[in-house]
Amino acid sequence: MSRGAETIRRETVAALYERELRAFEAAHPTSREIHERAKGSLLSGVPMNWMTRWPGSFPVFFSEASGATVTDVDGHDYADLCLGDTGAMTGHSPPATADAVGERLRSGITTMLPSGDSVAVGEELGRRFGVSRWQITVSATDANRFVIRLAREITGRSKVLVFNHCYHGSVDEALVTLDDDVVVPRDGSVGPPVDPSLTTMVVEFNDLDALERALALGDVACVLTEPALTNVGIVLPADGFHDGMRELTREHGALLVIDETHTLCCGPGGYTAEHGLEPDLVTIGKPIAGGIPVGAYGMSDEIARRVVDHTSWDHADEGGVGGTLAGNALSVAAIRATLAEVLTEQAFTHMVSLARRFEAGVEAAIEAHGLPWQVTRLGCRAEYMFAPARPRTGAEAAAAFDPELDRLMHLYMLNRGVLMTPFHMMALMSPATTEVQVDAHTAAFEQAASELCE
Ligand SMILES: Cc1ncc(COP(=O)(O)O)c(C=O)c1O
Repeated sequence: MSRGAETIRRETVAALYERELRAFEAAHPTSREIHERAKGSLLSGVPMNWMTRWPGSFPVFFSEASGATVTDVDGHDYADLCLGDTGAMTGHSPPATADAVGERLRSGITTMLPSGDSVAVGEELGRRFGVSRWQITVSATDANRFVIRLAREITGRSKVLVFNHCYHGSVDEALVTLDDDVVVPRDGSVGPPVDPSLTTMVVEFNDLDALERALALGDVACVLTEPALTNVGIVLPADGFHDGMRELTREHGALLVIDETHTLCCGPGGYTAEHGLEPDLVTIGKPIAGGIPVGAYGMSDEIARRVVDHTSWDHADEGGVGGTLAGNALSVAAIRATLAEVLTEQAFTHMVSLARRFEAGVEAAIEAHGLPWQVTRLGCRAEYMFAPARPRTGAEAAAAFDPELDRLMHLYMLNRGVLMTPFHMMALMSPATTEVQVDAHTAAFEQAASELCE
């Protein structure tokens, strides 16, 4: 049976959304009540503005999260495939991390002195990602911001090159997009400090010719990229793209920074280790401390030597790289335990096999209903898009976004006990995720596909 997209009528999408919204409101009276009260003290009734971006008429407040299950204040359990948009890829409160953190909480949280755990963390990150010298930050955003500063400092060049529709956190230089080949602030960028075309060059992912033209201008300090884009849906690198990018960056004297914050989903050493990349610097954050706020950046011996040569040690605390709580003992203890006991090789085997199961279930339903959609998997992360072809660039991925279907599918899943990452149809597997949870999503997806094709 192949009925296809032409049979997905917009009136059906709208009617299903209205039905789901009524069901949502009826099922979440306590969340609604808390949100009403929260509006009096929190901007928009949430502790951070993007929490308004969940589906439904108000945010769901949660009471507990454990393993891959979240329980809300109205008593509903959810199979959590969002996992804090990767911050909880370890599963919620993994016991090994919780134990290490509990111990550290009672024996000194932050002191301005290094703790012994940091040595084990540096060694393990070096072993996993193949770059030898590490620093610990409070977030992945910070790691990216500091690496950009360091790249400018040691190359003496002013610009950063990023790919269109990238996301690297709230980093000024990377909150940009292309508008007819002109670099502009991305939609929603709050108070951009300067015209971003002064700081940043932007080309499309997978376009080596455009990359070469940009690098040939000679003012790019570093290329900052995820190895596959994951924040505009998944955009996989084309064959030869990484080799070409490495060659071009070397040829034109630009450093190559690989942001593994999301692509750690590929394995213990991220995409870098899985595919033998040779970055000059690696940045990371989110899940490496099991959900405790942290980030890190690492560099090769050669870059470390140049950084040390350029560091004004008398001013190391005020040079724009740092943060009083960066490298605090609590975060570092959490990373050590998480890497040693949670995000292990064995855990990834389980997580990747669940993502394959997710992918197969979604593919089968797409096929059965003849829908012009597709699913892409990257390690233990999978995502479906409401468009027939896999995008090769950020612009293609952004153009494929269907806001009406997106909000319907998120709400449809939530109402059936499955949490998807709010900004797109992304699912992530943790060591605690089960086949039953993946199958719950597959069943709901099949039901939605069926209703949409009626
Ligand atoms: C690839 C990538 N890098 C960095 C970040 C920033 O992480 P944080 O918001 O934890 O600083 C994000 C956040 O989504 C990300 O997706």
